[in-house]
Amino acid sequence: MELKIAVLPGDGIGPEISEQGVNVMTAVCNKFGHKVTYKHAICGADAIDKVGDPFPEETFKTCMEADAVLFSAVGDPKFDNNPSAKVRPEQGLLAMRKKLGLFANIRPVQTFDCLVHKSPLKDELVKGADFVCIRELTGGMYFGEKKEGSDYAYDTNAYSRVEVERILKEAYKYAQQRNKHLTVVDKANVLASSRLWRAVAQEMAPQYPDVTTDFMYVDNAAMRMIQEPKFFDVMVTENTFGDILTDEGSCITGSMGLLPSASTGEHTPVFEPIHGSWPQAKGLNIANPLAQILSVAMLFEYFGLKEEGKLVREAVDASLDQNVRTPEIQVAGGAKYGTKEVGAWIVDYINKK
Ligand code: IPM
Ligand code: MN
Repeated sequence: MELKIAVLPGDGIGPEISEQGVNVMTAVCNKFGHKVTYKHAICGADAIDKVGDPFPEETFKTCMEADAVLFSAVGDPKFDNNPSAKVRPEQGLLAMRKKLGLFANIRPVQTFDCLVHKSPLKDELVKGADFVCIRELTGGMYFGEKKEGSDYAYDTNAYSRVEVERILKEAYKYAQQRNKHLTVVDKANVLASSRLWRAVAQEMAPQYPDVTTDFMYVDNAAMRMIQEPKFFDVMVTENTFGDILTDEGSCITGSMGLLPSASTGEHTPVFEPIHGSWPQAKGLNIANPLAQILSVAMLFEYFGLKEEGKLVREAVDASLDQNVRTPEIQVAGGAKYGTKEVGAWIVDYINKK
C-alpha cells in the first residue's frame, strides 16, 4: 500500500513525540513493504509565530492531499493567561477538525495490566477496564454562535438531527464490533440539545437490535466512570461532554501519555494523542511517546492494516513489560529511558520481528 502522511508536530513536546511516531511508522512500513511518504506542516503556536495563523492554508492543503494526518499537540502558555489574545493555538486544532469535517473522535480508554498500580483507582476497578468514547467533534458549544462582551458572554450548544444521526451511526458501528453495549451520555433532564440527542437515539435503537442501548446523564456518567469503569463498552456524547469525560477516562489508565485517538469524518482522518503539548517538558526528552505511537497503530487499523497495527501494539506492550518506560510510569530502580530511547527500543523491536 502507498501512504501519504501529513505530519503536524505542533508545539511543546509535539515535535519530540512526532519524531518517534514517524520512526515507528517507517519501521512498520518497511517490514510490510508499504511505501510511505511524509510531508511536514506547521500548526498551533508555532504557526502563529511564523505566519500569524494557527492552521495556515498551506497546512490545510497538505492535509487534504494526504491519506492521513499524524498530529501531535498544540498549545503554549503565553496564550493561556491572556484572555484578550486575538488568536490562539487551539483555534488551529479546531479549524483543522472543522475544515476536514472530522465529526467523529474515537478515544479508546484501554488499561495496561502492568500499569494498574499507577491508576488513582483501586486495582480491581481498573483491571480489565476497556471502553471507547465516541466524541462528537465538530458541533455543540465549540462551534455554536458566541458572544464575547466584557459584561455579557455566551456560547450556544446547537445540534442538528443530521449531526446527531451520523455520530450515533458511527457509535453503533463500534458497539457492533465490540461488546454490543452503547451508552448515550447527555443531560436531557436540563438541555434541549440533549433531548434531541435522546429522541434521535431512541428512534435509531430498534435498527440495532443486537446492541443494548442505555442512556445516562453526564453527571452520573462522570461518577460511574470512576465507580465502575467496566460498566462501559462504547459511550457516545456531544463535543463538550466528550472533552471532559475523556480527560477523566485517561486518568483511569494511570498515565495520560498512553491514550491515542482517531478523528474521522468527511476528509483526511487525523490520528493524535489525547494529551496536550506539556510545554514544561519541551526539549527535556521525558514525554511519553506511547500515545503518539499507538495513534500510528490506529492509523494502520483505519486502513484495514490489522497485522501492522497489531505489531505496533505488541511492541508497545513489550516495552512496558520490560520496564522500558518514560519517568512518569517507570518502576523504581530500572534503567532510565527518555522519549527517544523508548521510541528507538520500539523501532528495534519491530525491526527484529
Ligand atoms: C482535546 C483538547 C482540545 C479540545 C483543545 C486543545 C482545543 O482538549 O482534544 O481534547 O478541547 O477539544
Ligand atoms: Mn480535551
